[in-house]
Amino acid sequence: MDVRNDFPLLKRGITYFDNAATSLKPQQVIDAVVDFYENHTANIHRGIHTLSEEATELYEDSKKKVAKFLGAPNWHNVISVKNATEGLNLVASMVELSKGDSVVTSVMEHHSNLLPWYKMKARGVEVKLVGLNKDGTLNMEDFYEKLKGANLVAMSHASNVLGTITPIEEIIKSSQSEGAITVIDAAQSVPHLAVNFKKLDADFLTFSGHKMLAPSGTGSLIIKEGVAEECTPPIAGGGTIEDVTETEVKWASMPERFEGGTPNIEGTIGLGAAADYLMKLGMDNVRKHEVSLLKKAFELSTELPMKIYGPSIENRTGLISFTLGNIHAHDVSEFLNGRRIAVRGGKHCAHPLHYELGVPSTSRASFYIYNTVEEVENLFKVLNEIVGVFS
Ligand code: ALA
Repeated sequence: MDVRNDFPLLKRGITYFDNAATSLKPQQVIDAVVDFYENHTANIHRGIHTLSEEATELYEDSKKKVAKFLGAPNWHNVISVKNATEGLNLVASMVELSKGDSVVTSVMEHHSNLLPWYKMKARGVEVKLVGLNKDGTLNMEDFYEKLKGANLVAMSHASNVLGTITPIEEIIKSSQSEGAITVIDAAQSVPHLAVNFKKLDADFLTFSGHKMLAPSGTGSLIIKEGVAEECTPPIAGGGTIEDVTETEVKWASMPERFEGGTPNIEGTIGLGAAADYLMKLGMDNVRKHEVSLLKKAFELSTELPMKIYGPSIENRTGLISFTLGNIHAHDVSEFLNGRRIAVRGGKHCAHPLHYELGVPSTSRASFYIYNTVEEVENLFKVLNEIVGVFS
């Protein structure tokens, strides 16, 4: 993809393969944030003065861009959150589950899509983890078994370790038939795949901005029309009300109802610029590019004592988590860092998955739009060197 000139950090000559943790930022996003600081700094909604009106317009325009990018029917249903973790925690505070109810999620989830539900165990809510097939895809037989009688299904669209793309439409449809609330952790899919909220028809979908070219501390929780309009805001405060008397409160409607306090205005403006950038590239082209990098990685992996975890290319996003012989993942990452290649080593906030895989840690190289086939080839050259040094 002809995008490398848009990313100033690449001038440092580092090969950046830690995109599942956070992505680099293009000049267009940086400019949008700087433009806000230099020309429009003000708080939104609260002031009837020119700067505040400009800030409000820029902020709301950005949410409209996000709504367009993700096919959300109405930008009012796009709630600003600081990341997918906050989005999932907000949902957990909104839904009213009690003793005897059950939540279905999976063993490959990031902790962010486990712990908000685990916390409910203290009040008698059962949390059921769907297992995996040998190839790292979701075990749908197990899913249907655990779905029986479930009140809420919280599933990632793509795994941050295996890259596994889950059959999310089928999961949502069957969960709805069972009467369960549907919550999608789209942190690892929105940056990499075409996602359409209206088509998916989930109750809640959340993602982080920083993994899709936008500033940290940004993201959205998209809520389906009619699902949460009457919910008490989990974070109450300035902006979340229409009126307050000495004894009563009338909550605001969405999105203000769920955005207590001043939001990350400049970050959200950057998020809008990132959505614009990705729309211009086209998510199908993003996917195609990542598949070409994956193909090269899979091809070269056969020449090494390397185990890549997770499914085949068509069922995974653009990342590989692997072990290299019995060399520790931290040694692999450190050696690669010495060659100016940034990857991640560890359990990637997915401890249950690593217990399931039976490995203490994995190395993860995660690709994005600015990575090249030559960079992948060089990664494998250095991995080959590592095998030589450590054996
Ligand atoms: N969730 C991020 C990761 O997988 C931080 O690395």
